[in-house]
Order: sequence, then structure tokens, then C-alpha cells
Amino acid sequence: MSTVADAFATRHGAAPTGVWFAPGRVNLIGEHTDYNDGFVLPFALPHRAVVAAAPATGGRSRVRSVQEPGAAVEFSAASVVPGEVPGWAAYVAGTCWAFREAGYPVGEVELELDSDVPVGAGLSSSAAVECAVGVALAGLAGADVDPTTLARIARRAENEFVGAPTGGMDQMASMHGRAGRLVFLDTRGDTVELVPFDLPAHDLELLVVDTRAPHAHASGEYGARRADCEAAAAALGVPALRDAGPDDLPRIADERIRRRARHIVTENARVVETVRLLSGGADPRAIGPLLDASHTSMRDDFEITVPHVDVAVEAARDGGATGARMTGGGFGGCVIALVEADGAAAVTASVREAFAQRGWAEPVVFPGTPSDGAGRLA
Ligand code: GLA
Repeated sequence: MSTVADAFATRHGAAPTGVWFAPGRVNLIGEHTDYNDGFVLPFALPHRAVVAAAPATGGRSRVRSVQEPGAAVEFSAASVVPGEVPGWAAYVAGTCWAFREAGYPVGEVELELDSDVPVGAGLSSSAAVECAVGVALAGLAGADVDPTTLARIARRAENEFVGAPTGGMDQMASMHGRAGRLVFLDTRGDTVELVPFDLPAHDLELLVVDTRAPHAHASGEYGARRADCEAAAAALGVPALRDAGPDDLPRIADERIRRRARHIVTENARVVETVRLLSGGADPRAIGPLLDASHTSMRDDFEITVPHVDVAVEAARDGGATGARMTGGGFGGCVIALVEADGAAAVTASVREAFAQRGWAEPVVFPGTPSDGAGRLA
């Protein structure tokens, strides 16, 4: 994606100071556990947000996006506050704000953004932008900021500037991802362990199926699930559901809240078991049942799936997948399927056929390849 540097040079008559990137992510397992102080196991995708940037003159920052033709969005990075910049540029301005709030120097910037992370597919296109801007700001300031600090700055932009009440998984995956590795994150304390995930060595592949399901009420429902989890923790008298186990569940009187808690408690256990298997050198096929169980739990207990993703998961299994589940926040988005490398075509055909039968738009299927986290390109 050198086009973004070219676009910058064309507009400014000079090359940018640097070009930085940050990837989207897929979560292998561990859904909605991140805001419960729990465990997640995502990896960074090859799909990236890329920014070309240079210091600006004239006391204003100007940001443009290849995906958003039109005039540049202007704001002052030195003084911008939440509520001032709407739309896509809020991810950029919000990161400037959060970077400043963290005590780092922020000068005004000329910034050109490009991204091939699908938007609205649950692949963290927004975290990719925030993290790319974060590494760019650190680079421009000559500040040595560690990846976890940058991830926290990016998350603060998402939570407090954009106003989405997410956990911290997406930004940590975007910052810490590594080719061939999963990012095992303990969100209590943000400790990271990289776990080998070499599927080609086992003649396996992880397919990502973007169902293109229309996102309905995703942000409201996300907040509602958070509230349910907080109610469950309060009912149990624990700081977070991370601290609860299966034996605690009968103590939750409300049936819905109990099911929400059961998803989090069992999902945390599934993440830990997945890591145990993969770190111990097990055949990755062994995680198939955990992926399946995660999906069932999201569908029945946490109630965050929609017909498009349930159909995609079932069709993937019918087509021969070893395990399949929805990935990401839910209410649409993507499904992942662990498949034999020589069975990928059959799984893809099975999902396409199931969608065609229902008159749904054709899903987009691509291999999920664990890739490097944020950094400098040029
Ligand atoms: C979204 C949020 C994450 C996480 C997932 C669900 O991607 O941004 O913080 O909660 O949903 O696992």
C-alpha cells in the first residue's frame, strides 16, 4: 500500500516523514471475556490500516482517508477534546487526544490514511486506524512508547472519544500480533504470551467467512451484555466474572444473567484449554470442539449471534470443517472455520450454497493468516 505515501506526496509536494501501519484482527476464541478481566486469543490479520504522516504547519492538523473522498478533516491535535470531531476522523483525532492525555507531546499533523480492513465486519477496522495513528504519533514525536501503552491509548480513543464501550482485545491484538502466532492476552494486567499457530505444518487452514450480515443494534446490544455481566459479578460479589467458576453459577437467581455469566465462565476455560493444547504441541485439530462449543455458548447463553452467522457455522461444519464459530462482537460480522487445507474449497462451497439458497448476498471467504502487529513501513 505505497499508494498512501504517493497520495501524500502528490498533495503536499513532499514525501511524508514516515509511513506506519496497524492490522485488523480475528479472535480465535474468547468472546466478550475482555471486559470481564478474562482471557482472549486473537491474532493480527494481513489486512492493515496505513498512515503517511508529517508535521503540519499553520497550527491545524489535516487528515484525509482514501476511503472517504472529499475535503480533509481539520482539527487542532494540541487542543481537540471528545465531541469535537465526528465520523471516521474521530478515530484519528481521538488517538491524538488520548496520546496527549497520556502525557506525550503531540504536534499538528498532515495525515493520509488508507485501509484494507473490511469495515463493519467485526475485524477491528477502527482499532487498526487508532493503532496506526498511535504508532505514527509516537514516531513523529520520537517517543519510545511500548506496544501495551499504545494499545491502551488507542482503546481510550475508542471508549472515550468515539464513545464505544469496548474491551481492550482489538488494540492489543493490533499492537502485539506476530506472524505465525496467536496473542494470548490476560486482560487483567494486560499480560501477553505469544502462542505458536502453524496450521500449514499440519495441513490445516483457518478460513474467515465475512457473512456481510447487516449489523443490527450491535452497539446497544454490546452495552447491554456488558451491563448483564456487571450484574452477574455484583450478584456473586466478585470484582469481575473472571473471578467466578462453574460452581458459583447457581447462586445467580436471574435466569438470563446466569446464562450470560455461564458464557463468560465457560469461555474463559475454553481459552485456557486452547492455549494449553496449542502450547503443548497438540494437533490443532484438537481445538475444533472448543470452537464449536464457543459458538453454541454465544448463540444460546450470550445470545449475540444472528441467522447469517449461525447458518455459516452450520454450513462450514456440514462442508467438513473441524470446528467453527462466530468471531468478534457479534450481531453480524465474521465466522471462522478450522479446515483441512485440501478441504477449504468444499467448506467454502457449502457456505456459499447455504447463503444462495436463502437468497442472501454471497459471503466473502479468505484465509486468516496470523501476521505482524503495528510498526513502521517506511
Ligand atoms: C468487540 C470489542 C472487543 C471485544 C469483542 C468481543 O470486538 O471491541 O473489545 O469485547 O467485541 O469479544
